[in-house]
Amino acid sequence: MKHIRTPLLAIIAVFVLAGCDTTREATMVNQPEIEIVQDGAADGARRITLRNGRGMEVELMELGATVTRVVVPDRDGRPTDVVLGFDTIPEYPEKSQYFGCTVGRVGNRIGNGFFELDGTGYELARNNGENHLHGGVVGFDKRRWSAEAMVTGKGPGVRFTMTSPDGDEGYPGRLDAEVVYILTEAGELVVEMGAVCDAPTPVNIVHHTYWNLGGHGSGSVLDETLQINASHYTPVDAGFIPTGEIAAVEGTALDFRQPRTIGRDIGAFPENGDDPGGYDHNLCLDGDPGVMREVARLSDPDTGIVMIIETDQPGIQFYTGNFLNGMVGKGGVVYDKFGGLCLETQAYPDSINRRGEPGWPDVVMRPGENYEHRMVHRFTTE
Ligand code: BGC
Repeated sequence: MKHIRTPLLAIIAVFVLAGCDTTREATMVNQPEIEIVQDGAADGARRITLRNGRGMEVELMELGATVTRVVVPDRDGRPTDVVLGFDTIPEYPEKSQYFGCTVGRVGNRIGNGFFELDGTGYELARNNGENHLHGGVVGFDKRRWSAEAMVTGKGPGVRFTMTSPDGDEGYPGRLDAEVVYILTEAGELVVEMGAVCDAPTPVNIVHHTYWNLGGHGSGSVLDETLQINASHYTPVDAGFIPTGEIAAVEGTALDFRQPRTIGRDIGAFPENGDDPGGYDHNLCLDGDPGVMREVARLSDPDTGIVMIIETDQPGIQFYTGNFLNGMVGKGGVVYDKFGGLCLETQAYPDSINRRGEPGWPDVVMRPGENYEHRMVHRFTTE
């Protein structure tokens, strides 16, 4: 097992992990550091741990450029792991419903797995009924990314890179994608997603952590309090594909402009056939896309842990883990329906089939352009 543990103060430049087999032991406690472990169980995939000087820890892995653990102190200083996950890497492709991963090339759904671009029709993999979900059968979440440790002025980080070839899951053109995670000394987990392409293609890379600020095994999130700065949402049909309408949240159970518990009005979305019920909606964030702004605030009554999300994206998928079905996760805990929630900043679902319609984002990227998607998760307690 390769094991690298690096106090950040000892590093002056980007520390490239590929091929590195040195073992270094940390000499200082409470110093920001990056630790790399070669996981023997999983075909060479590596796990990376970032630590800051405030007792926070973020663990990631190369498979899916995935967040597997985020430990934050609760209001009494107790370390609390607030993300759902599994103990071993092979469990992710077996049991995961996109836990902690990076989703792409296009996150969320594309209706009928089809779109037209510059006069050509493209058939994508259909892996969700008739629709395309989260990049297809072997999306970015199931790829091995390549990790490289980073020293940044803000704190320890890691850059994951991966190439999606021309024709991947039906998408046109090659896409070189990267995701940078930084754990800052200010108590933030920064996620920066980027890509370049060699032919026009839709891109919407999405981060898919399931949060439970009471601790990943603490049960339902329905008693957590959420605020989302969104005045509108995109209604969907029975297959979760947007109808095209951009509707006001006013007077609906989707109005989170003032903080409220998640459970308060969740009954407005009951179980119905294949739909397990609960929140699974894209909200249209207020403010200008392309500009970083605070968009959501989540807090847990028992731990007092608060997470504030900032992003430059136009939308956010608020999903209450409706399809969680009792899978056994880290430390043997069971994840049931509503046992975690996702706040996925994104372009609106099926935007590629709504191009040119008023209010809809353009997700097409062309050669020479840079795709950029930034989110900050800021942790504090109350
Ligand atoms: C989607 C859900 C989907 C889930 C899969 C979410 O992003 O909104 O509809 O079931 O991902 O884990």
